[in-house]
Amino acid sequence: MAVDFEPHELWSEAARRDRHAFYARVRAAGEPVPQIDPVTGKRFWVLARHADVRSGLRHPDIGHEVHRHQTGPAAARSRVPVREADRLGARQLISLDPPDHTRLRGFINTAFTPRTVARLETRIEALVDGLLADARRRGTVDGVGDLGDPVPVAIIADLIGIPPEDRERFRAWSAMMISGGTAWAAATGQFAAYLDDLAAKRRADPRDDLLSALVALQIAGDSLDRDELVAMIQLLLVAGQETTVDLIANGILALLSNPDQWQLLKDDPSLAAAAVEEIIRYDGPVEIAPPRYTFQLIEIGGGVIPPFEIVALSVLGADRDPEVFTDPDVFDIKRSDAKHHIGFGHGIHFCLGAPLARLEGRIMFEKIAQQLPDLRLLAEPDQVRGVNPRLTALPLAV
Ligand code: HEM
Repeated sequence: MAVDFEPHELWSEAARRDRHAFYARVRAAGEPVPQIDPVTGKRFWVLARHADVRSGLRHPDIGHEVHRHQTGPAAARSRVPVREADRLGARQLISLDPPDHTRLRGFINTAFTPRTVARLETRIEALVDGLLADARRRGTVDGVGDLGDPVPVAIIADLIGIPPEDRERFRAWSAMMISGGTAWAAATGQFAAYLDDLAAKRRADPRDDLLSALVALQIAGDSLDRDELVAMIQLLLVAGQETTVDLIANGILALLSNPDQWQLLKDDPSLAAAAVEEIIRYDGPVEIAPPRYTFQLIEIGGGVIPPFEIVALSVLGADRDPEVFTDPDVFDIKRSDAKHHIGFGHGIHFCLGAPLARLEGRIMFEKIAQQLPDLRLLAEPDQVRGVNPRLTALPLAV
């Protein structure tokens, strides 16, 4: 039962060492599990069953814009960001509920189509071929820094239409905005000013890129305003970086730690697309979906969550739920139930970049299997612990 949980257990050494054991206990609790955030002191509620996480992700009374539902001082406190970086953050698709979310998603769905993504295929192939040739020459590589990192940022820059001469600056801003550290707000301000300038150029002289498409786009007489445009581009950049790097690094680790699966992929590299789905299910980049609030008392997961409290929906826990996946702790690239994973989310915020992440992942694993057949782990990987841990180094011999 939920009372068996310590208030900060999610951050405990034991839960961080074995996240899956922790979420197995949450699923078994049969009710939302309260935890206290050690930094903010706020209570939030963890859910980890597949059915509960899905229902939380699509619940109309669980969302982001809590101030719209509150009254009095609480509402006033959670409104009106002062810094530009916070103001832009509040205008991001991922932080909004309908109707604003629906409107912004309509714009980006129109501009960022499956065709836009398919057009990037040859560029991704060339980039990956180059990285792997380099890896063969060097003999040893870091799976994170040398194989994972370079692809997503280069492809997103291409997609947006960042000119070659600005790529280095773009890469630096991107790293600072993702780090969320002290440089984050300053980098966001500089990036916003840079985009204002580039958007003006594309308005005057459109190219075949996403920025030109977004500045020109009119839907029923409506268009994106300046903050919406900057926030959208910024979100694409931030949401698709670490996640895709993690997909590549976690995938290499899972394959090399399961030699039978690695052999299967080498024997038949056309399994790469299936392997990507299994990697996301088995060790996906997202542990807990971005936090949401209850807008009223919600009955969910066998219990109730009071109004205006934070809900932590564990995608990782859901994707190891034995109710949905046979032998969920087994990494099996040929499993038929991998398609039920919710590693890209579910409902209205379903990952906009999923087709791109899938394409990048498929090409990467296909080519690694073909071109680096002797790949092996040289040492234990390094990682940052904490909630949403990530690999920071993955030493490999080619
Ligand atoms: C949303 C995962 C790659 C752009 C999401 C969500 C998840 C996710 C779980 C839902 C968040 C929520 O419900 O609050 C992933 C994973 C990726 C990946 C695992 C890589 C393996 C990308 C890429 C891009 C991207 C490459 C951009 C090109 C977005 C955007 C949203 C989103 C814009 C917000 C959509 C909305 O709020 O309507 N992603 N993502 N993602 N993702 Fe991804």
